Amino acid sequence: MVTVTVCVGSSCFLRGAHAVIQEFERLIAEQVPGQVEIKGSFCMEHCTDGVTIKIGDDIFSAVKPADVPGLFEKYVMPKLVQG
Ligand code: FES
Repeated sequence: MVTVTVCVGSSCFLRGAHAVIQEFERLIAEQVPGQVEIKGSFCMEHCTDGVTIKIGDDIFSAVKPADVPGLFEKYVMPKLVQG
C-alpha cells in the first residue's frame, strides 16, 4: 500500500488541494483501485505556488492537478511494483 498525503492547510487548500486529490482519486480508481491510500495533512511548511504532497516519504511542492498524472506514473506506480 502506498500512501499519498495531500496538504489541506489553508494555503494549499486555496491553491487547489481538492482538485489534486480528485485527480489522484481518478487515477487510482482507473489503474490501481484499493492500492493507494490518500490522506489529508496539516501544513507541511512548504507553502509555495501550489499544493504540497507526500508520496511515501518524498515531498513534492507546487503540485498542480496537471502534474498529478506524471507524479503518479513516476513515483506511485514504481512503489506499487516494488510492493
Ligand atoms: S498549507 Fe500546505 S504546505 Fe503549508
